[in-house]
Amino acid sequence: MHTQPTIVHIASDDMQEAQQVCHELRLRGFKASPRSLGMDCLGCIGKQDILVIGSNLGHINGGQRRLPTLCEQVRDHTIIFIPGLRQTEFAALDSAGFKYINTATTPTIENLIYLITQMNPDVVYRASKQHALQSAKATSIETGVLSFFRQIRDGGAVAKPEEVESQRREMNDLIGMSPMSVWLDLFRNYHDGTGQHCSLVSGFTLAFARSLRFNEQDTSRLFDAAFFHDVGKATIPLEILDKPGRLVGEEWNVMKSHALRGYEILIRDERTADEIARLARDHHEYLDGSGYPRGIKARRIDDPTRILTICDIFAALVEKRAYKAPKSPEEAYAILRSMAGSKLDPDLVRLFETVVADYDRQQNSGNRLVRDAFEKA
Ligand SMILES: [Fe+2]
Ligand SMILES: [Fe+2]
Repeated sequence: MHTQPTIVHIASDDMQEAQQVCHELRLRGFKASPRSLGMDCLGCIGKQDILVIGSNLGHINGGQRRLPTLCEQVRDHTIIFIPGLRQTEFAALDSAGFKYINTATTPTIENLIYLITQMNPDVVYRASKQHALQSAKATSIETGVLSFFRQIRDGGAVAKPEEVESQRREMNDLIGMSPMSVWLDLFRNYHDGTGQHCSLVSGFTLAFARSLRFNEQDTSRLFDAAFFHDVGKATIPLEILDKPGRLVGEEWNVMKSHALRGYEILIRDERTADEIARLARDHHEYLDGSGYPRGIKARRIDDPTRILTICDIFAALVEKRAYKAPKSPEEAYAILRSMAGSKLDPDLVRLFETVVADYDRQQNSGNRLVRDAFEKA
């Protein structure tokens, strides 16, 4: 019998706080869902799920009166309260016969996980397995990208199709098992800027192709194009490529040459489709002709190139570099929107919103009511 995963629900009056705790838990492999104490129905949470109430209810108007009503909805659950309740509050819960864990202070995420372990060690065991798997996949993607660049820099050949396919499989698994907020953080922690960028562009492109419901073949072609799009950077001197700051004057011209250099590397390689080489050449072209290297206009820029350009810009904006703070996915998407029409394809930018919306996907919570209905049936 298929068992549903246990979800840790973080309920709070402060949704931002709830989302942050959920993000930290997801990074550690948990399935977590933020809930607003004011609006959500706590009674809808699954029988096996864990409920953490992260609010000092006594400080909120009417909080003490709300407490027994809130708890009544989840009478069968043991609730973890962070930070702890006041004496009058937990005395009220005791006399009503509720089960709860009352922490003295706001715990660290590790303390919270310790409390979850006390309640259900199996959840923590499964989360640690998921965490190990996520990290292993992200590491294997980074290693693949870096060894591919090193190979080209040393004058070697372009990665073999089967190597790219294995990268695609790893990426497909990773983005299938975790929301974007998790894999974005895993890639952002890469030390190497190029490794981070190419992994992110490949990830966003694959996620976009999946959300557009492209068939297997088109998805693979797009992924390959994303994986190879900046191969020309392997010919750029490292002092320019990794410069911790803005490029100036001639440095910028050298950097821009990566598009044509990438084309030359890929077009020479017999195993790589010419289309992939063309995409590497054209991924910095804009609809209004203001891009490079050729300054071509809309009618000469095909859809795969337009898709790749959107993912490339989005990745560059959300990346973490020593010299610039990363933009949040929402900020980065607002910039894409400001470029839609003049530089980027407006329809594709609109469709890309689905990928951005996946940032903090509330894992499985959308299916909750359906699940409850089945359990009752
Ligand atoms: Fe580029
Ligand atoms: Fe790029």
